[in-house]
Amino acid sequence: MTKLGVNIDHIAVLREARKINDPDPVEALGILHRAGAHQVTIHLREDRRHIHDEDAERIVAQSPLPVNLECSVDPEIIDVVCRLRPHRATLVPERREEVTTEGGLDIFTHEERVLAAIERLHAEEIEVSLFVDPDLETIARSDAIGAEWVELHTGAYANIHAMLLGNLSRSHHCIPDLDLPRHTLATMLEESLATLAGAADHAASLGLKVAAGHGLNYRNVEAVAKMAAVEELNIGQSIVARSVYTGLERAIRDMLALLA
Ligand code: PXP
Repeated sequence: MTKLGVNIDHIAVLREARKINDPDPVEALGILHRAGAHQVTIHLREDRRHIHDEDAERIVAQSPLPVNLECSVDPEIIDVVCRLRPHRATLVPERREEVTTEGGLDIFTHEERVLAAIERLHAEEIEVSLFVDPDLETIARSDAIGAEWVELHTGAYANIHAMLLGNLSRSHHCIPDLDLPRHTLATMLEESLATLAGAADHAASLGLKVAAGHGLNYRNVEAVAKMAAVEELNIGQSIVARSVYTGLERAIRDMLALLA
């Protein structure tokens, strides 16, 4: 079965809406564990817009599940991650003005910084994942520079899926032409899945462990979960959104049922 990492950043987003202490993301840890999630994922952003250092510290210290800490390659953030020593660090690109992580890490342009981050994380025995677009050259380079994992960005697939359902959010950026005919979208959907599956197979053939995530939800997740080479999915927004109505434990169990 594909493993599930639950990204709990959006619990902290809700807290930050009021700048108070409620809800506390640490309280989610026991619920994730009880529901059968395999990992907790958090993103310590440079602007600390949701998860704060103190949250990350308590989550790493108290989590009964492995912690996957997403972060940029900024040396000051890497200092914090090296001090906290989560199970895994996932290196992601970060732009302050973005609403969420908008694309994979460009390891060719930023190779020196990525390499420096990987070396420092490995020195603390933290395994490293690179959040990358499903591109074969990027995956081969990720392997060559020593990452243990790649996490494939599923945003392009998720956007096309949402367009087919007429459900694209107001802020989407990946697909410029919003008036594509249905059959074109259906072809694009097949192509995006084939690209993801090809990338996952390529990564696995190199010995990399393969995760995937971004924009996955209860309607689009199964096609990705079926890919044999994908070991783990990291999912946040859709689970926390559903939890408002069903409770977090139920929302996680519903997602796990789809992964199984
Ligand atoms: N994986 C990575 C690397 C991410 O940056 C994010 C978003 O923080 C996710 C997974 C989860 O994306 P979503 O919230 O759309 O499920």
